[in-house]
Amino acid sequence: MSVNGSARGGLLLSQSVSTPSKLLASPAQVDGKAVLITGCDKGFGHALAKQLHAHGFTVFAGCLLAVNTGHKEKELESIKSDRMKVLQLNVCSDQEVAQAVEFVKNNLKEPEKGLWGLVNNAGVSAFGEVEFTSIDKYKEVADVNLWGTVRVTKAFLPLVRRAKGRVVNITSMLGRMASPSRSSYCVSKFGVAAFSDCLRQEMYRWGVRVILIEPSNFVAATGILTPESIEAQAEELWRGASKTVQEDYGKPYFTRQITLMKSFINSGLKDMSLVLNDITDALTSKYPYTRYNPMEPHWRMRLHVITHLPTAVADWLYIY
Ligand SMILES: NC(=O)c1ccc[n+]([C@@H]2O[C@H](COP(=O)([O-])OP(=O)(O)OC[C@H]3O[C@@H](n4cnc5c(N)ncnc54)[C@H](OP(=O)(O)O)[C@@H]3O)[C@@H](O)[C@H]2O)c1
Repeated sequence: MSVNGSARGGLLLSQSVSTPSKLLASPAQVDGKAVLITGCDKGFGHALAKQLHAHGFTVFAGCLLAVNTGHKEKELESIKSDRMKVLQLNVCSDQEVAQAVEFVKNNLKEPEKGLWGLVNNAGVSAFGEVEFTSIDKYKEVADVNLWGTVRVTKAFLPLVRRAKGRVVNITSMLGRMASPSRSSYCVSKFGVAAFSDCLRQEMYRWGVRVILIEPSNFVAATGILTPESIEAQAEELWRGASKTVQEDYGKPYFTRQITLMKSFINSGLKDMSLVLNDITDALTSKYPYTRYNPMEPHWRMRLHVITHLPTAVADWLYIY
């Protein structure tokens, strides 16, 4: 295994593994374990469900619209295997989360041994400068990304504690470094990071590992934002802004920001395997890292600068 780091142990390190997925998990490491993943309709969640299933895990694939659409969950269901279980799971719904817990309990081979892994992956993305972003938008993004993660985690922790298992939360590099025009998303992801850090400290005594995955820009690989969704959000931002804000910022400036956002979504990594492999490592390694940073070197450098240098220096380098 080739690891871009020095040592493991889950205390201080943030790393990324670069191993081909076929070598990541041995049958002994998987050993009949089960994992619940949220947000499996598409993107990372969908691909991860397939990868973990291929490694031998029993996968509970939570899908937002599992019951009533032709989404990709049909593809997961078509994997005719008693280790791939697709279930309806809106992370914003107390009722659906409670039903999901019952479903998992009823379908675990040995429920008394608990659930090995919970991957909080479901998420939405948004952009827009503070003065253009409505309170409703802040709430809408936090509802899924932050409160959804908290709700699902609290509901499944008793099962994960039984197994002395793993909680793997997908945050973002934007859960560690702020960015102009991304406050609604950053607020939600910084919140998940804070929640995960507190939970990690509480869970040591239970033998449960709490791990953060902080990907950079994989929008081109997953489609969490598309040119169409950017246009729709831009329309909403401009319409929702007050006259004063519209006049002070001006349409040409606003349009330039939207163009920048469109170029951002095309500039990232188009292959999501770095993320999938890091999540797999987090679930299978005896000594997982606390934070994984699947990202290109330039983002890794920026993350280190922002984390370790004075804020004014980092802002001078990257923002002014
Ligand atoms: N892609 C990136 O560049 C990137 C970078 C850093 C972090 N992330 C994080 O990675 C995670 C997965 O993102 P992705 O890029 O794979 O996005 P994606 O392709 O849009 O997938 C997100 C999934 O979450 C589902 N979802 C949305 N709201 C939900 C809810 N209320 N309950 C349950 N599921 C819900 C979506 O369902 P529908 O398809 O039905 O809407 C979709 O299946 C997110 O947490 C995201 O913030 C992504």
